[in-house]
Amino acid sequence: MNNELKQLVCKLQEELSLSLAEYEYLIENRTSEIAEYLASKAVEVKKNIYSNAIYIRGLIEISNICKNDCFYCGIRRSNKNCDRYRITKEEIMECVREGYNLGFRTFVLQGGEDSYYTDEILCDIICCIKKEFSDVAVTLSLGERSKESYKKLFDAGADRYLLRHETANEEHYKKLHPEEMSFKNRIECLHNLKEIGYQVGCGFMVGSPYQTNKTLAKDLKFIEKFKPDMVGIGPFVPHKATKFANEGAGTVELTCFLLSIIRLIHPSVLLPATTALGTIDSSGREKGILAGANVVMPNLSPISVRKKYELYDNKLCTDAESAQNKKELEEKMKKIGYEIVVDRGDIRKEF
Ligand code: 5AD
Repeated sequence: MNNELKQLVCKLQEELSLSLAEYEYLIENRTSEIAEYLASKAVEVKKNIYSNAIYIRGLIEISNICKNDCFYCGIRRSNKNCDRYRITKEEIMECVREGYNLGFRTFVLQGGEDSYYTDEILCDIICCIKKEFSDVAVTLSLGERSKESYKKLFDAGADRYLLRHETANEEHYKKLHPEEMSFKNRIECLHNLKEIGYQVGCGFMVGSPYQTNKTLAKDLKFIEKFKPDMVGIGPFVPHKATKFANEGAGTVELTCFLLSIIRLIHPSVLLPATTALGTIDSSGREKGILAGANVVMPNLSPISVRKKYELYDNKLCTDAESAQNKKELEEKMKKIGYEIVVDRGDIRKEF
C-alpha cells in the first residue's frame, strides 16, 4: 500500500485534521486499497462509540413547494411539471403515530421553502408531536429561515436542524444556485442554528457539477471547523427537469471514501447512508454503513405523495427505503453485522 497515503490516514485519525492540500492529495490519489484501509479505521472509530447500533429516522416530506430555484433540484420553483403538494398537520401526526408504532423515535420534517409553513403553524405541529410523544426527537429540514424563526421553532421543542451547506466554496455555490441565493446567508443560517442550541447537520452532494477535489477539500475543512452533529452526504443524481439533466451522477465509491474521512474527522458524528446512495446502487446503504455511516432515514411520508417529492430521477421510496418495510431494512443490516435500535439516537457527546 502507498505509504504516504497510509500515513495521511493515520495522521487524520490521530489529529482529526489535515491541511487543505492533504485532503486534496488523499482524494486525488485514492486507490481501492487505501479506501479499504480508511474504511476499516472509520468503522473501528465508529464502533468504539456506537458499537453496532444503527439509528433510524422517519423522514416525513411535508411539502414539495419551494420558492428557490436551485439548479440541481427536481422540486425547484421553475419545474412546471412538478405535481405540487403539502400535507396537513393531521396527516403529519398520522405519519408520526405510524412511525412511533414501528419503533421510530426521531422524525424529520423535511420540505421545500414553502411560505405556508409560518412559525405559528410549525410551532403548533412541533408542540403537538412533543405533547403526544415525549420521548421523540424532532428534526427540521426546511431550508433557510431567520434566526428569530429558528429560535421560535427551537423553543417549541425542535431538537435538530438539517441544512446542507451544499458546497463550502463560494464560487462553486454560485454555479449551483441562482443569483438571489447567497452562500454567506447559508453559512450564517448554520451558525445561527448552532448558537440557538440545535443539534445541527450540514452536508453536500458528491459529484455535483463543477465540484473538484479542491472544493471537496474545502468541504472537509468546513466540517472540521464547524463541528456539526450530523453530516448528510449523498451522490448528486441528475433530474430530467433541471439544467443539469445531462450531467453525470456522483459515485458510490467517492461517497463512501468521503464518509470514511468524515467519520475520522469527527468520530462521534451522526452520519446517514442516504437515500441517494441507495438509489444509485441497490446495496448503497450497506456500503455506506461499512464505510462509517451509522444512520438511515427511511421514508415515512404518506404513500400518496411519495413519488412527488422527486429531488432527482428515480428517487427510491419503496423497499427498504420505506419505513413500513423496516423488517427488510433490519435484515439487511443484520447481514452486515449491525442492529437497528429503538432510540432517539442523539450524538454521543462524552467522546
Ligand atoms: N441529487 C442529489 N441530491 C439532491 N438534492 C437536491 N437535488 C439533488 C440531486 N439532484 C439534495 C440537496 C438538498 C437535499 C434535500 O437533497 O443536497 O440539500
